[in-house]
Amino acid sequence: LVKGTFNLIVVAYLLAELSLAAFVLASEGTGHCPALCLCEIRPWFSPSSIYTEATTVDCNDLGLSVLPESLPSETQVLLLQSNNIVNVDKTLNYLVNIMEIDLSQNNISSVNDVCLGSLPQLLSLHLEENWVQELPDSCLISLPNLQEFYINHNLIFSISSQAFQGLSRLLRLHLNSNRLTSINSKWFESLPNLEILMLGENPIFHLSDMNFKPLANLRSLVLARMNLTEVPDNTFVGLENLESISFFDNLLNRVPRLALTKVHNLKFLDLNKNPIERIQRGDFMDMVHLKELGINSMPELVSIDSFAFNNLPEMTKIEATNNPRLSYIHPKAFHKLLKLETLMLNSNALTALHHSTVESLPNLREVSLHSNPIHCNCVIRWVTMNRTTIRFMEPDSLFCVEPPEYQGQHVRQVHFREMTEICLPLISSGSLTDQVEVSKKSSVSLHCRAFGEPEPEIYWVTPLGDRVLPGRMSDKYYMHPEGTFEIYDATEQEAGPYTCVAHNVVGADLKSVLVLVDGYTALPSKQLLHVYITSVQSHSVLVSWKSTGALQSHVNWSILTEGQHILMPFKARLPADVKKYHIKQLKPSTQYLVCVEVIATQPGYSRDCVSVTTKGTVVLRKTTQNWDSLVMATCALSFISITGLHRETTKHTHIHTYGQFRFTNYPQHVFGLWEDAGELSENPHRENMQTTDRTILGKQGRKPEILQL
Ligand SMILES: *[C@@H]1O[C@H](CO)[C@@H](O)[C@H](O)[C@H]1NC(C)=O
Ligand SMILES: *[C@@H]1O[C@H](CO)[C@@H](O)[C@H](O)[C@H]1NC(C)=O
Ligand SMILES: *[C@@H]1O[C@H](CO)[C@@H](O)[C@H](O)[C@H]1NC(C)=O
Ligand SMILES: *[C@@H]1O[C@H](CO)[C@@H](O)[C@H](O)[C@H]1NC(C)=O
Repeated sequence: LVKGTFNLIVVAYLLAELSLAAFVLASEGTGHCPALCLCEIRPWFSPSSIYTEATTVDCNDLGLSVLPESLPSETQVLLLQSNNIVNVDKTLNYLVNIMEIDLSQNNISSVNDVCLGSLPQLLSLHLEENWVQELPDSCLISLPNLQEFYINHNLIFSISSQAFQGLSRLLRLHLNSNRLTSINSKWFESLPNLEILMLGENPIFHLSDMNFKPLANLRSLVLARMNLTEVPDNTFVGLENLESISFFDNLLNRVPRLALTKVHNLKFLDLNKNPIERIQRGDFMDMVHLKELGINSMPELVSIDSFAFNNLPEMTKIEATNNPRLSYIHPKAFHKLLKLETLMLNSNALTALHHSTVESLPNLREVSLHSNPIHCNCVIRWVTMNRTTIRFMEPDSLFCVEPPEYQGQHVRQVHFREMTEICLPLISSGSLTDQVEVSKKSSVSLHCRAFGEPEPEIYWVTPLGDRVLPGRMSDKYYMHPEGTFEIYDATEQEAGPYTCVAHNVVGADLKSVLVLVDGYTALPSKQLLHVYITSVQSHSVLVSWKSTGALQSHVNWSILTEGQHILMPFKARLPADVKKYHIKQLKPSTQYLVCVEVIATQPGYSRDCVSVTTKGTVVLRKTTQNWDSLVMATCALSFISITGLHRETTKHTHIHTYGQFRFTNYPQHVFGLWEDAGELSENPHRENMQTTDRTILGKQGRKPEILQL
C-alpha cells in the first residue's frame, strides 16, 4: 500500500537503468555464469513496486563461503541467500548494472566485512538473518542510491548516529528483530525520504518524544512486539505524512490517543493484540483521515463505551474480532462515522448488538456478528425483523445460545414476534469475572455492562452495603458512568464482595465479584439474620431485616392454613442493598409466613421466617366471596398496566423473555381474568413456564416497586 507510491525522480532513474540494462544484454556480456548458479532473466519489482525484468544470477543455497570469482558483468540481481558467506573482500564495482544484492541468511557478523565497493546503481540490499551487531558511522555511504535496506533479524544493539549517512534516497528500512534498546532520532536525519520503517521486535520498551521527527516523508511505521506499555504524547511529532502505524502485540493498556492526534494524516491503525480493557469515550475522535482500524485479539477488552468513536469522517472499516471478553458495545459507541461500511465483530463474547449501534451508521453495509454467544431476546430482535438492508456475514454461524428453547437456532430464523420489545437487563458475563486479585496499594477496575431494553442503569454495592451511583467518587473508588467501578490504593479494607446491579423498568440483574487484596478477602461472616415485621395493615405488611455482605435477598410469603398447607407462595428477588420490603395485596385477617433468605458470595446463606396475621377490615367484609372479587379486580388492573412486559423463570441465570407472561401458580380464576384482558402469545414453551418470581427494583429511599406480578 505504501510501497505503491513513488516519486518521479525514482521513475526516471529506473527507466535510465532499464535502457542501460537492455544495451548491455544486447552487446554480449562479459563473464560466465558461475558454476552451479542459475543465470536468467526474471521478473523483478523495484522498491517502488514497478515491474520489470532483470538479468538475475541465482546462487541461493549452494553452501558458498565466498562469492563466486567473477560474475556476468550485466548482472542486475545477485542472489546469494542461504550460504555461509562471512565476508565480501572483492568489490563488485564491475557490476555496473547491479540493482539488487541479496546476502540474507549468511554468516556475516559485521557490515564492514561486506566491501561491495561503490555501487551507485544498487537499489536494494538484503542482509537479514545474519549476525551483525553494530552499524558504524557511514557504513553504507558508497551506495548513494540505495532505496531498500533489509537488516532485520540480526543482533544489532548499536547504531551510530551517522550510520545511514549518504542514504538520502532510502525509502524502506527494516530494522526489526534486533537488539536495539532505544531509538535515536539522529539516525533519521540522513533519511529524509524514508517511507517505510520497521522497528518491531526490538527490546525498546520506551519511546520518547520527537523520536521520529526528521522522518517527514514516512508513510508506514511498524512498532510491533516491542513490549511498549505507553506512547508519550509527542512521540510522533513531525511525521506529517504518516498514514499507517502498527502497534501489533505490545503491552499498551489504553489507546495512545494523544500521541495519535499528532499524526494528522493517519489512515490505517493496527492496535491488535494489546491488553486494552476498554475503548473509552473519545479514544478515537476527530481523526479526519482514519479509514481502517484493527482492535482484534485483545485478551482484556471488555467494552466499547459510548462515543468511543466520534467524528471520523473517512472511517470505512472497523475490525474488532477475536476478543474473548468483549461483551458490550454501547448503543452510542459510534457517532458521526458517516462512511463506515464494514463492522467486523465476530468471535467475541457479545450477547447482542443494539439496533441503535447500527442505526447510527448511515452507510453501514455489512456486519459480521457470528461466533458470538447471542441471546435471542428483545435486544437482538431487530436482526430477525428482516427490515434492515445490512448484510450479515456468515449467517450460518450466527446462532442463539440463549434462551434454552432457541439454543442452536439461527438467529435470523427466530421469529421476531417470539421476542418482546422490552426486556430485562442482562449483565454481560464476559465483562465481570467471579473473583479479582489485586495487590496492596494498587488499583483495580471492575467492569459491569448490561444489555437490556430500555437501556439499563447500573450501580454498585460495596462489601459494606453502600450503594455507589455512577459518577460518585471517594478517595478509594470511582464509579464510571459506563459501569466500571474502580478501586484505588487497595487495602484489606477494600476486600470483599462487590455487587453490580443493572436495572431498568422491567427488572434488574445482579452480579457479584469477590475482590481479594494480596489474597485476603473479607468473607461475609455467617451472621444471624433477623427479620422483623415493622408494620401490619389489613392488605399489606412491611418486613425489614439487617444483613451485610449480601449479594441478593429473596423474600417469599405464603398463606398458612389450618392444615399448615402452604398455598400461593410468592417470591421477590432483591438487590443486596434493599433491606425492607412492602408486601402488598394480602388478604385481611390471614396468617402468612414470611421468609427472607440472604445470599452472599460465599457458600451458605442465612434465612429467617416470621409469621404474621394481617389486620381485619370492617368495611365490605360480608362474605369471603366478596373479598375475593375485590382482590381479583385489583389484580386485574395491575395486570393490564403491565401487559407486554415479560417474565423471568425462577432460575435467574436463565432470563427468558416472551411476548406475554403467565402466572401458573395463580389461582386459575385470577389468571383467567387476565387472559380476557389481553391476548396470549402462541409460544409453545409457555407450558414450561412456572413462575412465582417477582422481580423488583429496589431504589433506596423509595418504595420498592413490584415489577412483575
Ligand atoms: C559462522 O561463523 C562462525 C564464526 O564467526 C563459525 O563459528 C560458524 O561455524 C559459522 N557458521 C556456519 C554455518 O558456517
Ligand atoms: C517482551 O516480553 C516478553 C515476556 O517478558 C519476552 O519474552 C520478549 O522477549 C519481550 N520482547 C522484546 C522485544 O523484548
Ligand atoms: C427473515 O429471513 C430469514 C432468512 O431469509 C427467514 O428464514 C425468516 O423467516 C425471516 N423472518 C421474518 C420475520 O420474515
Ligand atoms: C421460602 O423461603 C424459605 C427460606 O428461604 C424456604 O425454605 C422456603 O422453601 C421458601 N418457600 C417457598 C414456597 O418458596
